[in-house]
Amino acid sequence: PRVAVVFGGRSEEHSISCATAASVLRTVDRERYDVVPIGITRDGHWVLVPDDPSALEIRDGRLPEVPPTGPQVMVPLGGVDHVWRLVQDDGSTVEVGVVDVVLPLLHGPFGEDGTIQGLLELADIRYVGCGVLASAAMMDKHVMKVVFAAAGLPVGAYTVITDLAWRRDRAACLEAARALDFPVFVKPARAGSSVGVHKVDDPAGLETAVERARAHDPKVLVEQGIDGREIECGVLQGRGTEPPRVSECGEITVTGGGHEFYDFEAKYLDEASVRITAPADVPPHVRDEIHRIARTAFETAGCEGLARVDCFVTPAGDVVLNEINTMPGFTPFSMFPQAWAASGVSYPELVEELLQLALA
Ligand code: DAL
Ligand code: MG
Repeated sequence: PRVAVVFGGRSEEHSISCATAASVLRTVDRERYDVVPIGITRDGHWVLVPDDPSALEIRDGRLPEVPPTGPQVMVPLGGVDHVWRLVQDDGSTVEVGVVDVVLPLLHGPFGEDGTIQGLLELADIRYVGCGVLASAAMMDKHVMKVVFAAAGLPVGAYTVITDLAWRRDRAACLEAARALDFPVFVKPARAGSSVGVHKVDDPAGLETAVERARAHDPKVLVEQGIDGREIECGVLQGRGTEPPRVSECGEITVTGGGHEFYDFEAKYLDEASVRITAPADVPPHVRDEIHRIARTAFETAGCEGLARVDCFVTPAGDVVLNEINTMPGFTPFSMFPQAWAASGVSYPELVEELLQLALA
């Protein structure tokens, strides 16, 4: 089969997506798949990218980018034929052929949020991962909490600040946020990798943090901080009518580097400051509860393919569902593959399983 690996994109997680793609490009079984690496530049151009994973890695603090050069990729819409084409610099076109499955390794808006999924649905092309609704709903941390709370899942306290509410009555928004216990985390509703997230220790810092989050998304969430361990769990869609499969739990510990929480720098640029432990050392009943929550979250959201479910475990042993990510970071050092490795599923097996689920 021919697989288009699509990465980069217009979101602020562009570089993380490139790093994810680098690992996947190295791993896809080339005997079995004809791989077409397609980058989406930061301003949204689809280009054929050299098949060179080393150029896409995060190395020495350098965040990789999709190069803005290369033949432009045309996705066949309208169902006349299903042939993908390239437009060369001189305007001539070259056929790529039919793409059997797309691996949209995109994080954040315009990729993890149902937009590319909608494009692929329209074009009648199979793809790995969640569909339009689950992607869109789970990209929005507010909608996500509403959906999970309605399913009886334990979500933390929060307030939402919509763009209109903020512009109409900022004081009322701040007052609602002040009613939470501090510290709080102020987050753009639709972003990932902690982009635009600020920890606020007392109410005086709220307004600035909201303005900063609004630079990334006009809709903002203020979440009550939860004192607890960060435990995450990988989920894979079951085969056929099987229930979702859950991995061993993994734990994130931020051990130094002056990071107040698991922020962007700690995640990608200061790896020495973060430790991933999988399997996490948690009592069996806590592990069971995380697994129950992860399966329920995946099914409630209508996820397909894969997801990573992030929880907090409080000192009393209560589990709080923080969020789900429908296209989790996927380098060999990321939590999702490490949690699966701890469950006996290797990185190459994971990539193959995701392609098989999409092609089934
Ligand atoms: N948003 C990042 C890539 C993650 O969830 O892993
Ligand atoms: Mg998270």
